[in-house]
Amino acid sequence: MDKILIHGGHSLSGSIKISGSKNSALPILAATLLTREPCILHRVPDLSDTHYMLQILMHLGAEVERASGTVTVKAEKTESVAPYDVVRKMRASVCVLGPLLGRCKEATVSLPGGCIIGDRPIDLHLKGFEALGAAVRVENGNVKVFAPKLAGAVINLRGKFGPTVLGTDNVLMAAVLAEGTTVIEGAASEPEVVDLANFLNKMGAKIEGAGTRRLIIEGVAELHGAEHDIIPDRIEAGTFLVAGAICGKGVTLKRVVPEHISAVTNALTQCGYRIETTDRSVTVSPNGEAQALEIATEPYPGFPTDMQAQMCALLSTTKGISAITENIFPQRYMHVAELKRMGAHMQLEGATAVIQGVERLFGAPVMASDLRASAALVLAGLKAEGQTEVSRVYHIDRGYEHLDEKLSELGAHIERVKA
Ligand code: EPU
Repeated sequence: MDKILIHGGHSLSGSIKISGSKNSALPILAATLLTREPCILHRVPDLSDTHYMLQILMHLGAEVERASGTVTVKAEKTESVAPYDVVRKMRASVCVLGPLLGRCKEATVSLPGGCIIGDRPIDLHLKGFEALGAAVRVENGNVKVFAPKLAGAVINLRGKFGPTVLGTDNVLMAAVLAEGTTVIEGAASEPEVVDLANFLNKMGAKIEGAGTRRLIIEGVAELHGAEHDIIPDRIEAGTFLVAGAICGKGVTLKRVVPEHISAVTNALTQCGYRIETTDRSVTVSPNGEAQALEIATEPYPGFPTDMQAQMCALLSTTKGISAITENIFPQRYMHVAELKRMGAHMQLEGATAVIQGVERLFGAPVMASDLRASAALVLAGLKAEGQTEVSRVYHIDRGYEHLDEKLSELGAHIERVKA
């Protein structure tokens, strides 16, 4: 297993380009199953998660071609069964359920397990399919959904922790081929859901309200092929903004949608960093002593849970007492123990991390536990004195395209060591 070695304390400057969004690309790749015709997707990031999704599509019978960031998928025929071996590597593979149900009127997909950031149920996805007229059975570790026909319905997808992103995607992908009108209340309004809805509309779907809490879907008989550019990855952008804040002298991110990362730029402005934006770029630079912050994760447009760990890393060396409350995945704090090993002072009080800023962190061998926690450890390593060795780098490769190379371009002393 590869490791990443970081020699901390070197300041970052310059500019990098942000890749296409992982969390947009995954459901959009799944949506290509909804048509027999070829779909062409640009700016699909080169990540292990997108590779897993392409493997699933191929297993289901689709022809896939990949040439750098452009992926062409042609699912002339599709199977409706995705077994454990194929889907177990990635929780997001659950989002093939919706398109398979829409197209084949039946689907069997191995049930995703819990993961390090929490329990991760799919009850709301299943509730949505049932409302469209599908029968749902969970047996032998698989979830099986089937319906002689799908009929439009009014569905509320809001759960205990707010809207569900992949649940909204899944029900949306089934509803586009249902008879009649479907209304999804309590829908997720994340930019990735909007990107999926835009792609589906290019395929001939009739969806209104994307980006709001209410989606209205007029079912159509069939969809056709389409070409689409995946939106920039707002979480990769947020992670590099925090890198720029933690030890930058002026870091510019190109190819971003500034509006998508305004919760992060607002938080950094509140901490005292200077943020400058154009229509497609954001620059972060220091602006005097940084301030402590109190923040809570929320569904979009609030502060994203996928940036909570990285923010913990930044605030661990910000003078004063900061607090971060995790409202989406209350157990998503595996990075805390590792950051403490690097000298951070933080305590968990329920779902809140209380952080007493320290003057310096120290390099240490640390272990990545999930994607965003790993990113937080890399960020802490950039600031720490001495060498930080981050193991289990495969977590990072799931969701960051060339993280080490991009940080090197900005001046970080970072190298990947092949095991
Ligand atoms: N939930 C339920 N029932 C459901 C589905 C979700 O109770 O049927 C709960 C979850 O347990 C959680 C909350 O609802 O408390 C929100 O979860 P959501 O369904 O929105 O998460 P997701 O769709 O499975 C996506 C991203 C995650 C991101 C979350 C929240 C993808 C592939 N994954 O997951 O991204 O944290 O939305 O924004 O889009 C990451 O990229 O590192 C990552 C984990």
